[in-house]
Amino acid sequence: MYQAVSDGTLCGNGKFTKLCQKFFEEKYGFKKCLLTTSCTDALEMCAILCELQPGDEVIVPSYTFVSTALAFVREGAKIVFADSMDSNPNLDADKIEALITPKTKVIVPVHYAGVACDMDKIMEIANRHNLLVVEDAAQAIDSYYKGRPLGTIGHLSAFSFHETKNIISGEGGLIGINDERFVRRAEIIWEKGTNRAEFYRGVVNKYGWVDTGSSFLPSEVISAFLWAQLENMDEIQNKRKELWNKYYELLKPLAEKGCFIMPEIPDYATNNAHMFYLVFPSYEARTKVIAALKENGYQAVFHYLSLHKSEYYKNKHDGRELPNSDRYTDCLVRLPLFYDLEMSDVERICAIIADNYK
Ligand SMILES: Cc1ncc(COP(=O)(O)O)c(C=O)c1O
Repeated sequence: MYQAVSDGTLCGNGKFTKLCQKFFEEKYGFKKCLLTTSCTDALEMCAILCELQPGDEVIVPSYTFVSTALAFVREGAKIVFADSMDSNPNLDADKIEALITPKTKVIVPVHYAGVACDMDKIMEIANRHNLLVVEDAAQAIDSYYKGRPLGTIGHLSAFSFHETKNIISGEGGLIGINDERFVRRAEIIWEKGTNRAEFYRGVVNKYGWVDTGSSFLPSEVISAFLWAQLENMDEIQNKRKELWNKYYELLKPLAEKGCFIMPEIPDYATNNAHMFYLVFPSYEARTKVIAALKENGYQAVFHYLSLHKSEYYKNKHDGRELPNSDRYTDCLVRLPLFYDLEMSDVERICAIIADNYK
């Protein structure tokens, strides 16, 4: 960050922005990456690129962050909410086909806790019905599906560098583009609807207003912060994985007794240690554990609230029950997991949880 300030270029698309984008393109194999000021912005860019017509339908899990749905609602889409799986909060790929109508245009899988959705199934359905796939990879940095980096499988994807994520820049995000046909328009949308990128490349001799867009690019101060994080990515990931593994080891005996369910990592997925969550058999059991941890100075928090029941969308939802989404809303809790957390804290947290079952 000091270097960005002393170099004197603070606006977007400078040296650090380019370094970060190249890092993702080379390490994971995206056709093109563009940094954004948030994952929400990256999802909004994806939604614009999908060229939705009013009434077009987009399939989104109900158990996700508001932005996954909101980005498409802003483009006039009708959201068709999908339920999560019994065994983990990802959307159930086997139930997608039943939601497809002639108006369906996009499927948006969310890789919850950085654990992959069943992408082969999703891509097969999408290809057969000629649909676009936008991966919400907000939590999925450096995680894989059958050896393929998450975010590189769908046509487009969105990542978050919000301070709650593994790799952070306070607020921040990235759009990953895997289908060549979206690259030029993405660059224009990113730069307030202008063809400035082509001007800088010397393709045109002046730039102007050619399309819709917004100011989606972050300043160099944010990009420089992100670059420092990316330089230390292995160390950050290793520490998170050690903490995650300790939680798993210490809580396994209670999970085996049926006190709660621990995160499931299917054979086709890797674990990027974004989150350690537990799913309790009831809302009351979860509340009890959250309260016990709070009494001892630890903040454990629940997560999403089913979007099909949200104040904003419940009257537009088609009325289907989505029981797994509601179960995760009521029964899932996230345990503290961040880079500075000490192993002794993990041990203490697990002991407090175990005390609850004595
Ligand atoms: C699945 C998912 N998508 C999108 C977002 C939005 O990310 P951001 O805060 O970077 O806009 C979040 C935020 O946590 C998220 O969990």
